[in-house]
Amino acid sequence: MTKINLSNMPVTLDDRIEQLFTRSYQYAQRLHRSDLIGDIEKLWQALTLERADSLSSYFKNAGLRRAYLGYYMPLYAAKIALLLQRLTKEGFLPGFAEKPMRVLDLGSGPLVGISAARLAFGPLKRAIAVDREIGTMRSGYEFLKPFMNEEEAKQIFLRRANLGVLKSFDFQEPFDLIILSHVLNEFGSSSRFLPKKLEVILAAINMLADGGRMLIMEPGNRVCSRDIMSLRDALFEEPSVSILAPCTGIDQCPLLKNATDWCHGELDWKRPAICVKIDEKIGFDKSMLKYSYLLLSKKAEQPEGVKNWRIVSGNMVHEGVVRRYACTPSELLTLSQREVTYKSVLTPLVRGELIAATDFEGRVQVVNEKSF
Ligand SMILES: C[S@@+](CC[C@H](N)C(=O)[O-])C[C@H]1O[C@@H](n2cnc3c(N)ncnc32)[C@H](O)[C@@H]1O
Repeated sequence: MTKINLSNMPVTLDDRIEQLFTRSYQYAQRLHRSDLIGDIEKLWQALTLERADSLSSYFKNAGLRRAYLGYYMPLYAAKIALLLQRLTKEGFLPGFAEKPMRVLDLGSGPLVGISAARLAFGPLKRAIAVDREIGTMRSGYEFLKPFMNEEEAKQIFLRRANLGVLKSFDFQEPFDLIILSHVLNEFGSSSRFLPKKLEVILAAINMLADGGRMLIMEPGNRVCSRDIMSLRDALFEEPSVSILAPCTGIDQCPLLKNATDWCHGELDWKRPAICVKIDEKIGFDKSMLKYSYLLLSKKAEQPEGVKNWRIVSGNMVHEGVVRRYACTPSELLTLSQREVTYKSVLTPLVRGELIAATDFEGRVQVVNEKSF
Protein backbone atom coordinates (compact mmCIF):
# COMPACT_ATOMS: atom_id res chain seq x y z
CA MET A 1 0.00 0.00 0.00
CA THR A 2 1.26 3.50 -0.85
CA LYS A 3 1.66 5.68 2.18
CA ILE A 4 0.18 9.20 1.91
CA ASN A 5 2.70 12.00 1.78
CA LEU A 6 1.44 14.64 4.20
CA SER A 7 4.82 16.38 4.19
CA ASN A 8 3.65 19.97 3.94
CA MET A 9 0.31 19.48 5.70
CA PRO A 10 -0.22 19.77 9.46
CA VAL A 11 -0.50 16.39 11.15
CA THR A 12 -3.94 16.60 12.76
CA LEU A 13 -7.21 17.25 10.94
CA ASP A 14 -8.00 20.08 13.39
CA ASP A 15 -4.75 21.83 12.43
CA ARG A 16 -5.29 21.27 8.73
CA ILE A 17 -8.77 22.83 9.04
CA GLU A 18 -7.35 25.78 10.98
CA GLN A 19 -4.73 26.32 8.27
CA LEU A 20 -7.27 26.09 5.44
CA PHE A 21 -9.60 28.56 7.16
CA THR A 22 -6.87 31.11 7.87
CA ARG A 23 -5.33 30.95 4.42
CA SER A 24 -8.60 31.00 2.46
CA TYR A 25 -9.90 33.96 4.48
CA GLN A 26 -6.67 35.92 3.91
CA TYR A 27 -6.65 34.97 0.23
CA ALA A 28 -10.28 36.06 -0.20
CA GLN A 29 -9.54 39.38 1.50
CA ARG A 30 -6.97 40.16 -1.19
CA LEU A 31 -9.27 39.21 -4.07
CA HIS A 32 -11.77 42.07 -3.75
CA ARG A 33 -11.92 45.54 -2.26
CA SER A 34 -15.34 45.27 -0.59
CA ASP A 35 -15.69 44.32 3.08
CA LEU A 36 -15.31 40.53 3.28
CA ILE A 37 -17.37 40.00 6.43
CA GLY A 38 -20.16 42.15 4.95
CA ASP A 39 -20.05 39.99 1.81
CA ILE A 40 -20.16 36.79 3.86
CA GLU A 41 -23.31 38.10 5.52
CA LYS A 42 -24.86 39.01 2.16
CA LEU A 43 -23.98 35.59 0.82
CA TRP A 44 -25.56 33.93 3.84
CA GLN A 45 -28.77 35.84 3.08
CA ALA A 46 -28.58 34.80 -0.56
CA LEU A 47 -28.07 31.15 0.39
CA THR A 48 -30.79 31.01 3.00
CA LEU A 49 -33.33 33.81 3.21
CA GLU A 50 -33.55 34.90 -0.43
CA ARG A 51 -32.49 31.67 -1.96
CA ALA A 52 -34.92 31.51 -4.87
CA ASP A 53 -34.10 35.02 -6.15
CA SER A 54 -30.37 34.90 -5.68
CA LEU A 55 -29.47 31.37 -6.57
CA SER A 56 -28.48 31.83 -10.15
CA SER A 57 -26.40 34.94 -9.48
CA TYR A 58 -24.41 34.48 -6.27
CA PHE A 59 -21.37 32.99 -7.99
CA LYS A 60 -21.48 35.58 -10.79
CA ASN A 61 -20.92 38.42 -8.32
CA ALA A 62 -17.15 38.68 -7.69
CA GLY A 63 -17.58 39.90 -4.09
CA LEU A 64 -19.93 37.06 -3.14
CA ARG A 65 -17.89 34.48 -5.03
CA ARG A 66 -14.80 35.33 -3.06
CA ALA A 67 -16.90 35.41 0.17
CA TYR A 68 -17.80 31.77 -0.55
CA LEU A 69 -14.12 30.99 -1.01
CA GLY A 70 -13.14 32.80 2.20
CA TYR A 71 -15.80 31.33 4.50
CA TYR A 72 -18.14 28.66 3.11
CA MET A 73 -15.42 26.77 1.26
CA PRO A 74 -13.33 26.05 4.39
CA LEU A 75 -16.48 25.62 6.53
CA TYR A 76 -18.03 23.03 4.21
CA ALA A 77 -14.70 21.37 3.44
CA ALA A 78 -14.16 21.01 7.20
CA LYS A 79 -17.64 19.56 7.65
CA ILE A 80 -17.15 17.00 4.87
CA ALA A 81 -13.64 16.09 6.12
CA LEU A 82 -14.85 15.62 9.70
CA LEU A 83 -17.67 13.41 8.46
CA LEU A 84 -15.21 11.41 6.33
CA GLN A 85 -13.07 11.00 9.45
CA ARG A 86 -16.07 9.76 11.42
CA LEU A 87 -17.10 7.36 8.62
CA THR A 88 -13.54 6.05 8.50
CA LYS A 89 -13.68 5.34 12.26
CA GLU A 90 -17.05 3.66 11.80
CA GLY A 91 -15.50 1.31 9.22
CA PHE A 92 -17.33 2.54 6.12
CA LEU A 93 -14.23 3.71 4.22
CA PRO A 94 -11.86 0.77 4.42
CA GLY A 95 -8.37 1.52 3.08
CA PHE A 96 -9.19 5.13 2.16
CA ALA A 97 -6.57 6.63 4.46
CA GLU A 98 -3.83 4.45 2.95
CA LYS A 99 -4.16 5.05 -0.79
CA PRO A 100 -4.02 8.22 -2.92
CA MET A 101 -7.59 8.98 -3.94
CA ARG A 102 -9.24 9.52 -7.30
CA VAL A 103 -11.99 12.05 -6.57
CA LEU A 104 -14.96 13.39 -8.54
CA ASP A 105 -16.40 16.59 -7.07
CA LEU A 106 -19.86 17.26 -8.52
CA GLY A 107 -21.22 20.83 -8.26
CA SER A 108 -17.85 21.59 -6.77
CA GLY A 109 -18.05 25.39 -6.46
CA PRO A 110 -14.50 26.46 -5.51
CA LEU A 111 -13.34 22.79 -5.29
CA VAL A 112 -14.90 22.25 -1.89
CA GLY A 113 -15.16 18.46 -2.12
CA ILE A 114 -11.60 18.21 -3.44
CA SER A 115 -10.31 20.34 -0.54
CA ALA A 116 -12.27 18.15 1.87
CA ALA A 117 -10.81 14.94 0.46
CA ARG A 118 -7.30 16.43 0.77
CA LEU A 119 -8.01 17.50 4.35
CA ALA A 120 -9.19 14.01 5.24
CA PHE A 121 -6.81 11.82 3.24
CA GLY A 122 -3.88 13.94 2.04
CA PRO A 123 -2.72 14.68 -1.51
CA LEU A 124 -4.87 13.20 -4.28
CA LYS A 125 -3.91 10.98 -7.18
CA ARG A 126 -6.38 12.61 -9.57
CA ALA A 127 -9.45 14.80 -9.19
CA ILE A 128 -12.12 16.18 -11.49
CA ALA A 129 -14.39 19.07 -10.53
CA VAL A 130 -17.66 19.55 -12.40
CA ASP A 131 -19.77 22.69 -12.12
CA ARG A 132 -21.80 24.87 -14.47
CA GLU A 133 -19.77 27.91 -13.26
CA ILE A 134 -16.16 27.85 -14.44
CA GLY A 135 -15.15 31.05 -12.57
CA THR A 136 -15.76 29.61 -9.12
CA MET A 137 -13.87 26.39 -9.93
CA ARG A 138 -10.94 28.43 -11.25
CA SER A 139 -10.80 30.57 -8.13
CA GLY A 140 -10.76 27.41 -5.99
CA TYR A 141 -7.99 25.95 -8.12
CA GLU A 142 -5.87 29.12 -7.96
CA PHE A 143 -6.24 29.13 -4.19
CA LEU A 144 -5.43 25.44 -3.78
CA LYS A 145 -2.52 25.23 -6.23
CA PRO A 146 0.21 26.53 -3.87
CA PHE A 147 -0.73 23.75 -1.39
CA MET A 148 0.01 21.05 -3.96
CA ASN A 149 3.19 19.83 -5.56
CA GLU A 150 3.45 20.19 -9.33
CA GLU A 151 2.52 16.58 -10.00
CA GLU A 152 -0.69 16.76 -7.95
CA ALA A 153 -1.68 20.16 -9.38
CA LYS A 154 -1.47 18.72 -12.91
CA GLN A 155 -3.92 15.99 -11.95
CA ILE A 156 -6.75 18.38 -10.99
CA PHE A 157 -9.16 18.95 -13.87
CA LEU A 158 -12.04 21.42 -14.13
CA ARG A 159 -15.04 20.63 -16.29
CA ARG A 160 -17.76 23.16 -16.92
CA ALA A 161 -21.00 21.24 -17.44
CA ASN A 162 -24.54 20.78 -16.27
CA LEU A 163 -24.91 17.76 -14.01
CA GLY A 164 -28.04 16.84 -15.95
CA VAL A 165 -25.78 15.43 -18.69
CA LEU A 166 -23.43 13.57 -16.34
CA LYS A 167 -24.38 10.15 -17.70
CA SER A 168 -22.97 11.07 -21.11
CA PHE A 169 -19.46 11.68 -19.66
CA ASP A 170 -16.60 9.28 -20.03
CA PHE A 171 -13.91 10.11 -17.48
CA GLN A 172 -11.70 7.17 -18.60
CA GLU A 173 -10.89 6.09 -15.04
CA PRO A 174 -13.28 5.23 -12.19
CA PHE A 175 -13.32 7.17 -8.88
CA ASP A 176 -12.65 6.09 -5.30
CA LEU A 177 -14.69 8.93 -3.88
CA ILE A 178 -17.49 10.99 -5.45
CA ILE A 179 -18.71 14.01 -3.52
CA LEU A 180 -21.97 15.85 -4.17
CA SER A 181 -22.21 18.43 -1.43
CA HIS A 182 -24.70 21.25 -0.95
CA VAL A 183 -25.88 20.87 -4.53
CA LEU A 184 -29.11 18.86 -4.51
CA ASN A 185 -31.08 21.59 -2.72
CA GLU A 186 -30.34 23.79 -5.73
CA PHE A 187 -32.32 21.34 -7.90
CA GLY A 188 -35.44 22.18 -5.85
CA SER A 189 -37.33 20.60 -2.97
CA SER A 190 -40.36 18.22 -3.15
CA SER A 191 -40.96 14.97 -4.99
CA ARG A 192 -41.18 16.74 -8.37
CA PHE A 193 -37.39 17.08 -8.43
CA LEU A 194 -36.64 13.55 -7.24
CA PRO A 195 -36.25 11.96 -10.72
CA LYS A 196 -33.64 14.57 -11.72
CA LYS A 197 -31.66 14.00 -8.51
CA LEU A 198 -31.87 10.21 -8.95
CA GLU A 199 -30.62 10.48 -12.52
CA VAL A 200 -27.48 12.35 -11.42
CA ILE A 201 -26.81 9.97 -8.53
CA LEU A 202 -27.29 6.81 -10.58
CA ALA A 203 -25.00 8.17 -13.30
CA ALA A 204 -22.37 8.91 -10.64
CA ILE A 205 -22.65 5.48 -8.99
CA ASN A 206 -21.71 3.93 -12.34
CA MET A 207 -18.45 5.91 -12.21
CA LEU A 208 -17.30 4.39 -8.91
CA ALA A 209 -14.33 2.05 -8.73
CA ASP A 210 -14.82 -1.25 -6.88
CA GLY A 211 -14.83 -0.34 -3.20
CA GLY A 212 -15.56 3.31 -4.10
CA ARG A 213 -17.98 5.51 -2.18
CA MET A 214 -20.30 8.37 -3.03
CA LEU A 215 -20.95 10.96 -0.33
CA ILE A 216 -23.98 13.22 -0.66
CA MET A 217 -24.10 16.01 1.89
CA GLU A 218 -26.76 18.66 2.47
CA PRO A 219 -27.41 21.27 5.14
CA GLY A 220 -28.81 19.80 8.37
CA ASN A 221 -32.04 21.80 8.28
CA ARG A 222 -35.50 20.27 8.19
CA VAL A 223 -36.27 20.83 4.49
CA CYS A 224 -32.93 19.64 3.10
CA SER A 225 -32.75 16.67 5.47
CA ARG A 226 -36.28 15.52 4.68
CA ASP A 227 -35.48 15.76 0.96
CA ILE A 228 -32.48 13.51 1.59
CA MET A 229 -34.71 11.10 3.53
CA SER A 230 -37.16 10.86 0.59
CA LEU A 231 -34.27 10.42 -1.79
CA ARG A 232 -32.96 7.64 0.44
CA ASP A 233 -36.28 5.77 0.29
CA ALA A 234 -36.22 6.02 -3.52
CA LEU A 235 -32.59 4.80 -3.63
CA PHE A 236 -33.50 1.85 -1.41
CA GLU A 237 -35.51 0.51 -4.39
CA GLU A 238 -32.58 0.85 -6.79
CA PRO A 239 -30.89 -2.47 -7.58
CA SER A 240 -27.54 -0.83 -8.44
CA VAL A 241 -27.06 1.05 -5.14
CA SER A 242 -26.24 0.21 -1.51
CA ILE A 243 -27.00 2.77 1.21
CA LEU A 244 -24.18 2.40 3.71
CA ALA A 245 -24.87 5.29 6.10
CA PRO A 246 -26.46 6.88 8.02
CA CYS A 247 -29.26 4.36 7.46
CA THR A 248 -29.15 1.03 9.21
CA GLY A 249 -30.99 -1.17 6.69
CA ILE A 250 -34.65 -0.43 7.35
CA ASP A 251 -36.79 -0.39 4.16
CA GLN A 252 -38.58 2.94 4.82
CA CYS A 253 -37.18 5.86 6.75
CA PRO A 254 -39.09 5.86 10.08
CA LEU A 255 -38.50 9.57 10.66
CA LEU A 256 -40.34 10.50 7.46
CA LYS A 257 -43.65 9.52 9.08
CA ASN A 258 -43.74 12.65 11.20
CA ALA A 259 -43.32 16.03 9.48
CA THR A 260 -41.53 17.50 12.48
CA ASP A 261 -38.71 14.90 12.45
CA TRP A 262 -35.59 15.07 10.34
CA CYS A 263 -32.53 12.86 10.33
CA HIS A 264 -29.38 14.92 10.74
CA GLY A 265 -26.10 14.70 12.57
CA GLU A 266 -23.85 17.04 14.51
CA LEU A 267 -20.08 17.29 14.46
CA ASP A 268 -18.15 18.74 17.33
CA TRP A 269 -15.06 20.56 16.10
CA LYS A 270 -12.23 22.84 17.13
CA ARG A 271 -13.56 25.99 15.49
CA PRO A 272 -10.71 27.93 13.84
CA ALA A 273 -9.99 31.35 15.36
CA ILE A 274 -10.90 33.17 12.16
CA CYS A 275 -14.24 31.36 12.02
CA VAL A 276 -14.98 32.36 15.62
CA LYS A 277 -14.21 35.99 14.71
CA ILE A 278 -16.52 35.98 11.68
CA ASP A 279 -19.30 34.17 13.54
CA GLU A 280 -19.17 36.63 16.42
CA LYS A 281 -19.36 39.60 14.08
CA ILE A 282 -22.27 38.24 12.06
CA GLY A 283 -24.04 36.34 14.83
CA PHE A 284 -23.70 32.82 13.40
CA ASP A 285 -23.51 29.84 15.72
CA LYS A 286 -21.15 27.28 14.20
CA SER A 287 -19.99 25.73 17.46
CA MET A 288 -21.47 22.43 16.21
CA LEU A 289 -21.66 21.57 12.53
CA LYS A 290 -25.04 20.23 11.45
CA TYR A 291 -25.44 18.13 8.35
CA SER A 292 -27.49 15.49 6.62
CA TYR A 293 -25.94 12.94 4.28
CA LEU A 294 -25.96 9.63 2.47
CA LEU A 295 -22.99 7.37 1.92
CA LEU A 296 -23.56 5.11 -1.08
CA SER A 297 -21.70 2.37 -2.91
CA LYS A 298 -22.35 0.06 -5.78
CA LYS A 299 -24.61 -2.82 -4.77
CA ALA A 300 -23.21 -5.75 -2.83
CA GLU A 301 -20.58 -3.79 -0.96
CA GLN A 302 -22.14 -3.72 2.48
CA PRO A 303 -19.16 -3.75 4.85
CA GLU A 304 -19.47 -6.36 7.55
CA GLY A 305 -18.98 -6.01 11.25
CA VAL A 306 -19.88 -2.36 11.63
CA LYS A 307 -22.28 -1.28 14.36
CA ASN A 308 -25.81 -0.82 13.08
CA TRP A 309 -27.89 1.34 15.41
CA ARG A 310 -27.70 5.08 14.87
CA ILE A 311 -28.63 7.86 17.30
CA VAL A 312 -31.09 10.13 15.48
CA SER A 313 -32.20 12.55 18.21
CA GLY A 314 -30.75 14.90 20.75
CA ASN A 315 -31.09 14.29 24.49
CA MET A 316 -34.72 14.41 25.64
CA VAL A 317 -34.88 14.76 29.40
CA HIS A 318 -38.17 14.49 31.25
CA GLU A 319 -38.77 13.85 34.95
CA GLY A 320 -35.26 12.56 35.55
CA VAL A 321 -35.28 10.20 32.55
CA VAL A 322 -33.13 10.77 29.47
CA ARG A 323 -34.29 9.37 26.14
CA ARG A 324 -32.66 9.06 22.71
CA TYR A 325 -34.13 7.71 19.47
CA ALA A 326 -32.11 5.02 17.70
CA CYS A 327 -32.71 4.01 14.09
CA THR A 328 -32.16 0.24 13.74
CA PRO A 329 -32.37 -2.21 10.80
CA SER A 330 -35.96 -3.10 11.69
CA GLU A 331 -37.52 -0.10 13.45
CA LEU A 332 -37.11 3.14 15.30
CA LEU A 333 -36.46 2.52 19.01
CA THR A 334 -36.41 4.69 22.09
CA LEU A 335 -33.52 4.17 24.50
CA SER A 336 -34.13 5.46 27.97
CA GLN A 337 -32.38 5.56 31.30
CA ARG A 338 -32.75 7.23 34.66
CA GLU A 339 -30.26 10.04 34.30
CA VAL A 340 -29.56 10.13 38.01
CA THR A 341 -28.40 6.52 38.01
CA TYR A 342 -26.42 6.25 34.76
CA LYS A 343 -25.70 9.81 33.86
CA SER A 344 -22.85 9.14 31.48
CA VAL A 345 -24.27 6.45 29.20
CA LEU A 346 -26.82 8.07 26.84
CA THR A 347 -26.21 11.78 27.30
CA PRO A 348 -22.70 12.02 25.76
CA LEU A 349 -23.75 10.36 22.50
CA VAL A 350 -23.57 12.71 19.54
CA ARG A 351 -26.53 12.99 17.19
CA GLY A 352 -25.69 10.83 14.18
CA GLU A 353 -23.36 8.51 16.13
CA LEU A 354 -23.32 4.79 15.43
CA ILE A 355 -23.71 2.34 18.33
CA ALA A 356 -24.07 -1.43 18.68
CA ALA A 357 -27.25 -3.02 20.01
CA THR A 358 -25.17 -4.54 22.78
CA ASP A 359 -23.33 -1.37 23.84
CA PHE A 360 -25.61 -0.56 26.77
CA GLU A 361 -27.15 -3.95 27.51
CA GLY A 362 -28.72 -4.00 30.96
CA ARG A 363 -28.10 -0.30 31.44
CA VAL A 364 -30.73 1.29 29.24
CA GLN A 365 -34.31 0.39 28.63
CA VAL A 366 -35.27 -0.20 24.98
CA VAL A 367 -38.81 0.59 23.89
CA ASN A 368 -40.35 -0.04 20.45
CA GLU A 369 -41.17 3.02 18.38
CA LYS A 370 -41.06 6.56 19.59
CA SER A 371 -42.44 6.69 23.08
CA PHE A 372 -41.84 10.24 24.13
C1 LIG B 1 -23.89 25.85 -2.77
S1 LIG B 1 -22.72 25.47 -4.01
C2 LIG B 1 -21.93 24.09 -3.29
C3 LIG B 1 -20.49 24.05 -3.66
C4 LIG B 1 -19.74 22.94 -2.99
N1 LIG B 1 -20.10 21.65 -3.49
C5 LIG B 1 -19.89 22.99 -1.49
O1 LIG B 1 -20.18 21.97 -0.84
O2 LIG B 1 -19.69 24.05 -0.91
C6 LIG B 1 -23.69 24.66 -5.26
C7 LIG B 1 -22.90 24.45 -6.54
O3 LIG B 1 -23.61 23.57 -7.39
C8 LIG B 1 -23.53 24.05 -8.71
N2 LIG B 1 -24.68 23.51 -9.43
C9 LIG B 1 -25.98 23.56 -9.05
N3 LIG B 1 -26.75 22.93 -9.96
C10 LIG B 1 -25.91 22.49 -10.93
C11 LIG B 1 -26.11 21.78 -12.14
N4 LIG B 1 -27.32 21.38 -12.52
N5 LIG B 1 -25.03 21.49 -12.88
C12 LIG B 1 -23.79 21.87 -12.50
N6 LIG B 1 -23.54 22.55 -11.37
C13 LIG B 1 -24.59 22.86 -10.59
C14 LIG B 1 -23.55 25.55 -8.54
O4 LIG B 1 -23.01 26.21 -9.68
C15 LIG B 1 -22.69 25.73 -7.31
O5 LIG B 1 -21.33 25.84 -7.64
